[in-house]
Amino acid sequence: MSVIKLAVIPGDGIGKEVVPASLKVLDVLAELHGGLRFEYKQYPWSCEYYLEHGVMMPEDGIEQLKDSDAVFLGAVGNPNLVADHISLWGLLIKIRREFEQVINVRPARSMKGVTSPLANPKDFDLIVVRENSEGEYSESGGRIHSGKDEVVIQNAVFTRKATERAMRYAFELAKKRRGKVTSATKSNGIVHSMPFWDEVFHQVAAEYPGIQTESRHIDALSAFFVTRPHEYDVIVASNLFGDILTDIGAAIMGSIGIAPAANININGKYPSMFEPVHGSAPDIVGKGIANPIGQLWTASMMLDHFGYQDLGKNLLQAIESTLEKGIKTPDLGGRSKMDEVIEEVINQLKNM
Ligand code: NAD
Ligand code: IPM
Ligand code: MN
Repeated sequence: MSVIKLAVIPGDGIGKEVVPASLKVLDVLAELHGGLRFEYKQYPWSCEYYLEHGVMMPEDGIEQLKDSDAVFLGAVGNPNLVADHISLWGLLIKIRREFEQVINVRPARSMKGVTSPLANPKDFDLIVVRENSEGEYSESGGRIHSGKDEVVIQNAVFTRKATERAMRYAFELAKKRRGKVTSATKSNGIVHSMPFWDEVFHQVAAEYPGIQTESRHIDALSAFFVTRPHEYDVIVASNLFGDILTDIGAAIMGSIGIAPAANININGKYPSMFEPVHGSAPDIVGKGIANPIGQLWTASMMLDHFGYQDLGKNLLQAIESTLEKGIKTPDLGGRSKMDEVIEEVINQLKNM
């Protein structure tokens, strides 16, 4: 019997709904497999935890997560209780950084049973490789001067090491896919980091002569995601550009509620973290209508990561069959509750 030890952090808002629901599905998958079991350790770290303890996680929090095989996280953030930059840097971003989860892999593709908001979408299947350790997400900067002369500086940090790493990851991924990498740049307007980004892209591209490459400015690329997403295979983007592109990717699929993500520790030294693209969705919390598919698809990526590609594929198939039957939550234009979606996904898995 193989055991996968998961550190489970439901977090805030609908994270507390979609995570337990997804664990039910994981247990069914393990049971159907026969030789696999998940062991869960639950961590209540969240904005409510912060109100009680003054921190998002205990001082030895990272240490506590270290011996898990992966972190399975819902969403973090309740701006009514705690300022977002405090809660996110205290938990989500902290885990990404401490565990060197330097790459954030975020696929977006046409899903059976889902109507894309695009009028005449051709099928698309792309993956955004988001640099996940630096870039625009930096603590460098500060407030200088005050009063009417107040100035705030936010520095973006681009190291050769992290930039090359993200690009190599994208090229390696493209080799296993349709052989095309698009770089998201903005070297026409941002004079230091983005020309450097382009330079590294061209250098790494030279190591992969079999791969087709292109550079697109992020503004145009955002528009092309809407008008011709089928042209893209792998896109490599900085932390912030990747963040924004993947919400667009989610939107063209049909809802941010279905988009998955994997924060990968590429050297295998620390656990990777699996959390969907969406947030805690305060506007729908407690209504039972959160779409669990983002979290489930994320679980499917986690199964792939552990070498259970068959289970991951079965789970995706069960999700698509459920959608095709019209069992979907309101964000996808359906009338079903989250529990009905989960029930049907389990049903589909059991009847495979
Ligand atoms: P959000 O993703 O939480 O919500 C945006 C919109 O999408 C809302 O209308 C919401 O109802 C809807 N939505 C999101 N997920 C859904 C789902 N599974 N099913 C149905 N509808 C869904 O983004 P936001 O409103 O910008 O952020 C809310 C909070 O979440 C903030 O505190 C933010 O910082 C945080 N956040 C956390 C993460 C994360 O933990 N990875 C990601 C994004 C935002
Ligand atoms: C995401 C989120 C986070 C990010 C926020 C909540 C810090 O938007 O995972 O996409 O920007 O990385
Ligand atoms: Mn985001």
